[in-house]
Formats: sequence, C-alpha cells, structure tokens
Amino acid sequence: MKDERAPGSSSPPSRLTPPGSSDPISEILESFRAEAARGVSSRSEFEALKGRYLGREKGLVPALFARMREIPPADRASYGARANAAKREVEEGVSRLGEALARIEAERRERAAAVDVTLPGRRLRAGSLHPVTLVRRRVEEIFLRMGYSIADGPEIENDVHNFEALNFPPEHPARDAQDTLFVDRDASSPLLLRTHTSPVQIREMRKRGAPLKIIAPGRVYRNESVDATHQPVFHQVEALVVDRGISMADLKGTLETFFEALFGAGTKVRIIPTFFPFVEPGADVYVTCIFCRGAGCRTCKGSGWMELAGAGEVHPAVLESCGIDPQEWSGFAFGLGLDRVAMMLYEFPDLRLLFEGDERFLSQFAPLS
Ligand code: FA5
Repeated sequence: MKDERAPGSSSPPSRLTPPGSSDPISEILESFRAEAARGVSSRSEFEALKGRYLGREKGLVPALFARMREIPPADRASYGARANAAKREVEEGVSRLGEALARIEAERRERAAAVDVTLPGRRLRAGSLHPVTLVRRRVEEIFLRMGYSIADGPEIENDVHNFEALNFPPEHPARDAQDTLFVDRDASSPLLLRTHTSPVQIREMRKRGAPLKIIAPGRVYRNESVDATHQPVFHQVEALVVDRGISMADLKGTLETFFEALFGAGTKVRIIPTFFPFVEPGADVYVTCIFCRGAGCRTCKGSGWMELAGAGEVHPAVLESCGIDPQEWSGFAFGLGLDRVAMMLYEFPDLRLLFEGDERFLSQFAPLS
C-alpha cells in the first residue's frame, strides 16, 4: 500500500529552526516533517496525526503556546514568532495531507465501482413455481376449457359461511372433523381459518344466484395430526355447478372428463356414498391409482384407488339459504385436494415435502400439460 499513502509536506525546512537545535519547536517540526513525508493511507491515520499535532487539548502545537509563561520575557517575542510559524507550517502540512488523502479515497472508490469487463458474467438463477401452483394452474386450465369461471374467497372466514350456511348446525358432530383455529370467537359470526373451499359456494351463490358454473382454488386449514397424506395447511379446488336439471350423472361425467384430462386416458372414477351436511347424496371420489393403474400398490394401500375429493348434489337447504329455489334449480359440487393431486402427478411419497421449503426438492418440477 506504499503507493497509496498521501504524500506529505514537501515544504522546505523552516528558516526559523536553527540546525541541530533541540528546542521544543524544532523537535516538533522535525517529527512532523518526518511523519508528513511518510504520508497517511487512511482517514483514521490522518485524524490521529492531526489530533497529535493540532488537537486543542493535547496537541503538541497548542502545547508550545501554553509554555509561553516559562519563557524568559526577553525571549518571548522571538519564541512566539517561531511558534506561530511552526503552527502555520503544521497546519499547511496537515491540510496538504488531507487533500492528498481525499484524492486517494476518490481513486479507491472509482476502482471499487469499476466494472471489469473481462470477468465472466454472473449467472442469474431462474426461480421456479411451487408444485402446488403448477397443479393449480393445470386444473384451472382444464376447467376454463370446460366453461367454468374462477372465484375466490377469504382464508379468514366466518362461521356462517364455513359451517352454518353449509348446513352444519352449531354443535353438529360433522364440525369435529374440521376443527380449526378461531381468530375471533366474539365476532357476531365467529372468525376462523376456513377448513375447506366450500364457503366460496355460499358467497358465489349469494352474490350471483343461479345458474352458476365456478371453481374456487385456495388454501385451507385444519387441526390435523400430520402424516404423509395429511397437512394442517393444504389446498383445495372447489367446483360448483347450479342449473336446471343437474343430477349425479352430470357430476360423474364431469369428474371423469376432468380426471382423464388431468391424469390421462383410461383414468377411472369411482364414487362411494358418504356424508357431508351440504350435499345430498354425498360421495367420496376415488380415482384409479396412477402408480399401479389399478393393480394395487403401496401408495394406494393395495386398493388400486386413491381418494382425491368429496362431492355431491347441493343440498336443497343450502340452495335455499342462498336465495335459490330448489324446486327450480339443482346443482353439484366437489372439493378436490390439490396437494394429493401434486403427489400423484409428480410421484413423490409424502405431502410434507411440499411445505418444508427445501429448494432442492421444490425446484425440480416442470409445468404440466
Ligand atoms: C371437504 O373438505 C368438502 N368440503 C369437500 C366437498 C365439496 C364435498 C363439495 C362435497 C361437495 P374432505 O374433508 O373430504 O371434504 O376434503 C376434500 C379433499 O381434500 C380430500 O379428498 C383430500 O384430497 C383433501 N384433504 C382433506 N384433508 C386433507 C389434509 N389434512 N391434508 C391434505 N389434503 C387433505
């Protein structure tokens, strides 16, 4: 760094300093000239030097003036003149050092900011979409082609939309299967993290009436014991069709068309009766296991089928609670677990992988078509 030192004073030795003298003024000047000739390479070094010579309290130059009282009166005038000249020399020297240092600092800044065009470029790493996002987009694409529109609803829902209007009366045991976090129990309709996407059915029917043909993808929450196929935070896509004369046959046909588009030709759908308060009849929807094509394997626990959705004919009480006349209109609905679809399409064995945030896993997946 020798070349980076601000060069010191190059002023000639003061005429006021008798050669070889050892009086304090000469001593200070000599040591200042030596230090200034070495120069400074940093701001802190500069400040230290400046303080050492010119510092108001402990500086060597102000100390020369403090000594004035000790000088015999006859010598005071010449001592004072020499001290003043020394002070000027040190001040000028310090200011030259400061200017030189400022030039060095500016050069350093310039050098640091300079672009070395000979260096190889930095590769920008492209991000990737989360597998659940890729699956959601694919599902949306298929339904849009089938004439559905996409609806949205809040993740913090109230009890009316999440349960009551869906025919879960207070204290009904069906609520136990969908325990969740209550955000505000004292609100007129308690606020909670929605347990499924079905409340969007209520919001859309109340807003738009019949006929209706929507899907509603989104995140849902449940108090669950976590395992390979159960997460406390997961994703569903709700589908709802309300029109004249809609039957279970429409539901089955729609499910078959959709799952064939998603998993490929030959995918079979099986519906098995079950209970959801907001549909009648209600069904669990199973799809041919895509790992073994129905032969039975570890993933489908030997059954050849995977449960992917709940479904059914919209309950007349639900239509009524949304101001839709069940004598004139009927409908079907289903709720599909997106994370489990991702697990099947991308062939990984455990849903937890989706939520651990390990980029090595998450960045592997390509868009589906
Ligand atoms: C429901 O949530 C109903 N709302 C579905 C429905 C809609 C029925 C419309 C009738 C009409 P269920 O609790 O079975 O149903 O969940 C639906 C799907 O979400 C399941 O088939 C499964 O694929 C997925 N799922 C449920 N719980 C979890 C969980 N803890 N982790 C990951 N996926 C889950």
